[in-house]
Amino acid sequence: MHLKNTHKNYGLIAKTIHWLTAMLFLGSYMSVYYRHWFTEDKTPENWNAIQIHFSFGVTIAVFVLLRIIWRLMNTIPAEEPGTALEHKAARLGHYALYAIMIIMPVTGYLGTGVATEFFFMFDIEKFPNTWVFTQVIQEGLGISFETFEKPIDFIHKEILGAWLVWMLIAGHVMAALYHHLVRKDRTLKKMTVDRSERLSD
Ligand code: HEM
Ligand code: HEM
Repeated sequence: MHLKNTHKNYGLIAKTIHWLTAMLFLGSYMSVYYRHWFTEDKTPENWNAIQIHFSFGVTIAVFVLLRIIWRLMNTIPAEEPGTALEHKAARLGHYALYAIMIIMPVTGYLGTGVATEFFFMFDIEKFPNTWVFTQVIQEGLGISFETFEKPIDFIHKEILGAWLVWMLIAGHVMAALYHHLVRKDRTLKKMTVDRSERLSD
């Protein structure tokens, strides 16, 4: 298997980052909903669950940066047959997924008033203690953290986290399954393994 993408398939690095990111999304949802549904406020479980949520989110941010750099250095595997409109929709969907991989961690970090204990190994300074917040937002614009975080939290939790991200991911997974099961083309194989290629290797 190639490390870099080829004209036919995503390479090992793109595949690894793609599937790790998918697991990290699952983990960030599981941790935040576990916290909501199964823990009491101000207990160690409650704190650990949100810290895991932060840690998964920050890792997604790191991966998306690596992924964008890697994508720019690589060819993109050829699209399967489809209409111009379908190709446009697929590209738009992928850009939207890239957008949420950036916007979710950024809004999460900016709207959080405590430090991130990154997988309980080291701390990432909370945003209200950073130079950007104290000098630009608080001193420069005269906005308190309570006022600043409200709209950001609303975007992170109510608009994107609760709805849009789910819808985008569900649409993406359904499109992948539709290609695989109905169209029976190579879309999913490009991102996984193609057994017929393995046999002919
Ligand atoms: C891609 C990454 C992320 C995703 C998909 C995500 C998603 C979510 C979701 C779905 C919620 C709960 C919404 C609800 O209450 O219904 C939430 C809450 C929250 N997120 Fe994130 N998040 C991500 C990254 C982050 C990061 C990096 C931080 C901070 C460093 C963060 C901080 C928070 C906080 C403080 C809450 C509120 C917790 C609560 O009310 O229980 N998130 N996030
Ligand atoms: C079970 C879950 C998932 C499945 C089955 C899946 C499947 C796929 C497949 C088959 C492709 C290749 C599409 C093509 O080249 O036409 C792809 C690409 C992509 N996926 Fe997923 N995916 C999943 C989860 C996710 C998640 C959670 C994200 C991010 C939030 C994501 C983001 C992307 C992006 C951005 C691309 C485009 C890759 C590029 O060209 O850089 N996927 N996915």
